[in-house]
Amino acid sequence: MELALYDPEHGYYGRGPRRIGRAGDFYTAVSVGPLYGRLLAGLAVKKRSEMGAGKDFKVIEQAAHDGQLAEDILEGSDLDYLIVEPNPRYQEVQRQRLERFGDRVSWVPVTDDLPAGPALFVCNELPDAMPVHLVRWDGSEWQELFVTAEASGRLQLSPGPPSASLALPIARLPVNLQPGHILEVNLAAEEWLRHLACARFHGQVVIADYGLDQEEFWAPERAGGTLRRYHQHQMDDRVLEDLGECDLTAHVNFSRLMEVAGAEGLKLQAYEHQGRWLGRLAMPWLASLEGRRQDGATKALLRQFQSLTHPSIMGRSFRVLVLEKNVRTAAA
Ligand SMILES: C[S@@+](CC[C@H](N)C(=O)[O-])C[C@H]1O[C@@H](n2cnc3c(N)ncnc32)[C@H](O)[C@@H]1O
Repeated sequence: MELALYDPEHGYYGRGPRRIGRAGDFYTAVSVGPLYGRLLAGLAVKKRSEMGAGKDFKVIEQAAHDGQLAEDILEGSDLDYLIVEPNPRYQEVQRQRLERFGDRVSWVPVTDDLPAGPALFVCNELPDAMPVHLVRWDGSEWQELFVTAEASGRLQLSPGPPSASLALPIARLPVNLQPGHILEVNLAAEEWLRHLACARFHGQVVIADYGLDQEEFWAPERAGGTLRRYHQHQMDDRVLEDLGECDLTAHVNFSRLMEVAGAEGLKLQAYEHQGRWLGRLAMPWLASLEGRRQDGATKALLRQFQSLTHPSIMGRSFRVLVLEKNVRTAAA
């Protein structure tokens, strides 16, 4: 999965930012339109004032992709922006798109390089794009599913004893599932969150993605796991086909992220469906529209609001985890 997504020559993401939205393979909240960014900008401005911060306050984004969310947040606000971007090709695309904002925008390659200071950290659909391990319950023990090649070159998933790094995660899994039940273990997401917790900034962390609670992964109807591939808005589980041409993704285990967050000293502020969370953020804007005639631009924003919050579109399957991050004092 790591190679299929991030190999610099062949990887779906590694080669450079793909189109997201109607002309791409899938939609994200960002690709729905500028409303999402505007609501996040409102949150950032509120956070800055609550923290009593000034010019030192930054919006930090990771998984900035082609810079669309950054543009939506920067436009119409006076916020400063810091992008965490390891891939130079992405940085180049982002720099071009955001050039007009001058020194309001800066970059670091990894969260370990983030400077100290007050900030709102946001990421949209980041952990779901991290490579996962697959494990399968065989009725008496957990096996890992490895990608192997037949003599013909055809790839397949083959069970074997789990990697050493899975020993602890597997010890936490239930043993009363039906034989054949597959789960994803996203060690990369856990590692990412641990690093984020140790970063030097303080303020709020917002993680928006589609995902489930622990028990939802264990439900019989999810016995096949949640690893999927996306291509031109079609989704299926043939994850070993057309590698590098399709997005590969697995639902985020929010329960596990909350456990890691807690262990790392990040305080839970909210965990809820995107629809509810954005509904609250949008309240002042919606109230300001009452009794006024809506022009075409407002109607377009209201349609975006509907897509982002309606339970049958993005409102329920997407969830938002909000954490409070204090300054970490270095261990002695
Ligand atoms: C599903 S896309 C989401 C893009 C965008 N945030 C949006 O919502 O439209 C996942 C993105 O995560 C990026 N990504 C994966 N690992 C990353 C990392 N360690 N640092 C920064 N971006 C990363 C990929 O390059 C890709 O752009």
